Amino acid sequence: MKKITVSFTLNGDPVTAEVPVTWNLLKTLREVFELTGAKEGCGVGECGACTVIVDGEAVNSCLFPIPEIEGRSVTTVEGLASKEGELHPLQKAFLENNGVQCGFCTSGMIMSAKALLDKNPDPTEEEIRTAISGNFCRCTGYVQIVEAIDMASKTEK
Ligand code: FES
Ligand code: FES
Repeated sequence: MKKITVSFTLNGDPVTAEVPVTWNLLKTLREVFELTGAKEGCGVGECGACTVIVDGEAVNSCLFPIPEIEGRSVTTVEGLASKEGELHPLQKAFLENNGVQCGFCTSGMIMSAKALLDKNPDPTEEEIRTAISGNFCRCTGYVQIVEAIDMASKTEK
């Protein structure tokens, strides 16, 4: 299969990967860089489990063609904690509010929330719900997740 070499920024570090041209960003993150926080739920853009941030926007990495990542900046859930291992306020808030049950959706939820808070540090509940409207959770009922994002928005001030 034809391969392509792409260079981009991954969690703050410059990286290069040679992968089949048909791969998407999710597969590249998981199989080349062994970053398995982003999950493949549906593989067709409907569940949000694969959400990462590209140039400030939350994207479904399962739909992101790898040739288009050239020169861009990608943040995954693995890039949120400090180098010393201290969790990001969103990660702490999800834990404190019981926003994590099976955990399959959690990485995607947190990345959608981070993209929201980076642009809008003081969102309303409706804005939070809109930001995670593409993220499916089959466990929590969303209430604790919304409360976690709200708590993180207040913590980050
Ligand atoms: S795996 Fe990408 S949206 Fe479901
Ligand atoms: S915690 Fe299980 S899918 Fe959300």
